[in-house]
Amino acid sequence: MDEQIKELNAFLEGEFMGIHAYEHYIKNTQDEAIKKDLQTIQQNHKMHAIFVAERIQNLGGEAVDDVGLVGAFQERVQQVKGYPKDSRAIIEGAIHGEEFGSDMMAEFVKGDLDLESRNMVQSILKEHQQHIELLRKHLK
Ligand SMILES: [Fe+2]
Repeated sequence: MDEQIKELNAFLEGEFMGIHAYEHYIKNTQDEAIKKDLQTIQQNHKMHAIFVAERIQNLGGEAVDDVGLVGAFQERVQQVKGYPKDSRAIIEGAIHGEEFGSDMMAEFVKGDLDLESRNMVQSILKEHQQHIELLRKHLK
């Protein structure tokens, strides 16, 4: 049970990374249509964070409420490198984040999750896939 809570908390940290990254993307974009989609996606990640936190609590665990130490370090590195400013770079950054982030998050929950948690994780990862499709439309 403890192992499962640890895995779900790592997964939850990934959601917070996403929420934070989208905050930068939204702030930097001038294009209204892109901004709208970025906001929709960020709102989805906020819902994911709520669902995962609730599941952790229902399993008797304590849910994290931020990105954690490794995440904070990665964010600091990104801060130094700078967040993308033009539309195309923002979209590409967001797609990369969804892909790379989801791969990482899928790794975090490789252990034995109970059926309900596994279904939740799978439907979240499927939504991340849909985010990528939504973002790709802006690259055409
Ligand atoms: Fe998410």
